[in-house]
Amino acid sequence: MELIQRLLKATEFRDKDTGEHIIRIGYYTSELGKLIGLDEDTCKILSHASMMHDIGKIGIPDNILLKPGKLDQEEWVIMKTHTTKGAEILKGSKSELIKMVEEIALTHHEKWDGTGYPKDLKGEDTPIVGRITAICDVFDALLSRRPYKKAWTIEVVIEEMKCGSGTHLDAFLVEIFLDNIEIFINIKEKYS
Ligand SMILES: [Fe+2]
Ligand SMILES: [Fe+2]
Repeated sequence: MELIQRLLKATEFRDKDTGEHIIRIGYYTSELGKLIGLDEDTCKILSHASMMHDIGKIGIPDNILLKPGKLDQEEWVIMKTHTTKGAEILKGSKSELIKMVEEIALTHHEKWDGTGYPKDLKGEDTPIVGRITAICDVFDALLSRRPYKKAWTIEVVIEEMKCGSGTHLDAFLVEIFLDNIEIFINIKEKYS
């Protein structure tokens, strides 16, 4: 666990914007896991594993990772490899935690309708921990300011999540997430 925390700290040297995002993701995913009935141990592992969803970004060059504007097509292709690079870093472990990190690193950009990356997985072919991390990541990204966008209001974020339900995001998870939105807003406010 300590090594994970320190590895995350190492990634912050490259991209300082992500420190609080990573902490919030850990809380969101374990709360959503609890809400859908995952057991306590799984939620605990999920909390730590999801914090490392973007660990593969350590393999993305600065001029792409830190670019203030939109990425061009060629840069975008490289950016997308943070999923496979993350899985590459973690593959072949016997540890439950590290196996889950590998799964999440690889699948957190897959979409319900199969238009995500890197493997174009559809529906439940994307593991539940990947789908949980995806929805929490989208929620936090939309609510936050990024180099390429302003922070959106909560009303607009909720509308966007409803729009993405069943296409980008797992509709079942969106419903539970929005029914319990206060929990997630509180995490966002507390760890900003
Ligand atoms: Fe990512
Ligand atoms: Fe993220």
